[in-house]
Amino acid sequence: MTSRTALVAGIFLAALTAQSAAQVVAGDPASGRLLVEARCSSCHAMEEVGHPAAPAPGFAAIAGMPSTTSLSLRVFLVTPHPSMPNYRLTDVEVDDVIAWIIGLKRR
Ligand code: HEC
Repeated sequence: MTSRTALVAGIFLAALTAQSAAQVVAGDPASGRLLVEARCSSCHAMEEVGHPAAPAPGFAAIAGMPSTTSLSLRVFLVTPHPSMPNYRLTDVEVDDVIAWIIGLKRR
């Protein structure tokens, strides 16, 4: 292989990698799950539908609602909400939480 061919092949591979990365959901569901467990599970059930001790819907139930999309979750999570304590999530954390909740939809 000439060095020019190798260079072209390298650019091609880099472009392919960038393209497939752009197609997956932005957030990391594993980090999202850890964050939700630490900061949200006192009120919300994790995978289970109900939470006997709290009025908050479980995340499986939230994910299962037809109206739940990554956009609706994003709007909800960046808007202050009276029934939830003031928490501030960074953009990356919001993406991670959304990736985890949306992932529950497919089960
Ligand atoms: C102090 C209790 C509490 C905590 C902590 C809490 N929530 Fe909630 N959450 C609620 C209650 C109660 C509701 C349902 C009533 C409402 O929507 O006002 C709710 C609703 C929601 C909904 C919307 C469900 C729908 O009907 O669309 C989402 C999404 C949500 N919470 C995500 C989170 C996330 C993510 C966290 C952690 C960062 C969190 N909550 C932490 C109490 C809490």
